[in-house]
Amino acid sequence: MKLTINLATASYPIIIESALRYQIKTRLIQMGCNKIAIVTDATVWALYGELMRAELEDFEYELTVFSPGENAKSHENLMVLYRNWLDFDLSRKDMVIAFGGGVIGDLTGYAAVNFMRGVPFIQIPTTLLSQVDSSIGGKVAVNLPEGKNLIGTFYHPNEVWIDTDFLQSLPERVFKDGMAEVVKAGCIMDRNLYQLLIDSEYPLGSSMLYEIIERALIVKKHLVENDEKEMGVRKILNFGHTIGHALESYGAYSRWTHGEAVAMGMVWVTKSAEGNGLVQKGTTDDLKALLHKIGLPTESGVALEELMQWLVRDKKKTSRGIELSIMHQPGESFLHEVPKEDLYRFLSV
Ligand SMILES: NC(=O)c1ccc[n+]([C@@H]2O[C@H](COP(=O)([O-])OP(=O)(O)OC[C@H]3O[C@@H](n4cnc5c(N)ncnc54)[C@H](O)[C@@H]3O)[C@@H](O)[C@H]2O)c1
Ligand SMILES: [Zn+2]
Repeated sequence: MKLTINLATASYPIIIESALRYQIKTRLIQMGCNKIAIVTDATVWALYGELMRAELEDFEYELTVFSPGENAKSHENLMVLYRNWLDFDLSRKDMVIAFGGGVIGDLTGYAAVNFMRGVPFIQIPTTLLSQVDSSIGGKVAVNLPEGKNLIGTFYHPNEVWIDTDFLQSLPERVFKDGMAEVVKAGCIMDRNLYQLLIDSEYPLGSSMLYEIIERALIVKKHLVENDEKEMGVRKILNFGHTIGHALESYGAYSRWTHGEAVAMGMVWVTKSAEGNGLVQKGTTDDLKALLHKIGLPTESGVALEELMQWLVRDKKKTSRGIELSIMHQPGESFLHEVPKEDLYRFLSV
């Protein structure tokens, strides 16, 4: 299956296939690549390094392996990449491959846009979150000690290659983390995906997994194509994220995963919106039931008073207040700006 992201400035294919990992060599040859810099993390390389080495054996390639985890998105690691690529004589005619989850994709993409003012890169995402979310849309970033993704830009990959079989080795918690983004995609724009998730048995079989990935990608494709730089409609992807980010900060990024925080954020914002008469009655209960079935948490136990300081720091706030993405009913959402002075009341309902 092939989807194409069509933008004013670029267009690129997303190929989704099981066993795509055995086509890497052929596809790189078709693209005319001969010199390749590949970036990954130690967990992914331990699992798939041998396979990848076999795919790359006919090319001149350079490998950088980082320690797994969010801390890899650092300026120190950018320097590591720039030095390795300089030593390798990487040029704009060559190719970079980001092989791993969202951490590797964001870091590698940010290095690729800056090195020599932009070297082409391919995303080979290996987590569910990166397959349905971070590998497409062009957002690339690194962290500062003061916060996540504070230094970043938009830079699209030349191609995205998704092999759903990579997900078989994911730890359950990492898999569920990505499921929160799939649920989000259903909530905001795809009623059939939402229903499919409700009707499915868990753990999901491989053909169902393929289908939900494809559907979630179509949602993201649509929003990215209509609003590349996230000035308007793309912001509905933040459903559950305003409160989710606040919960992540509150829990010092260790108490909950991103997806767990987003799951609780989706429930919280839907409950508040329902209480404020913006959402069809019963929507929150249905969403909670779905998240329970998947095994994601729905209640944080954190009091709103404690969360407020993190909420008002949200990157997406406007001068007047906070723009919340709200699911009106499954598959339909809208942006709703809540004035600063009304935020506490709105979220306490
Ligand atoms: N650019 C965007 O639009 C965007 C969107 C959402 C999230 N993000 C970013 O993505 C990052 C999170 O991505 P993530 O959830 O993929 O985390 P991650 O890259 O840290 O991967 C999670 C864990 O899974 C391991 N792993 C990866 N693939 C595996 C596999 N196939 N089998 C077994 N283990 C595997 C990794 O080593 C890591 O320990 C965050 O930094 C976030 O800011 C970016
Ligand atoms: Zn997210």
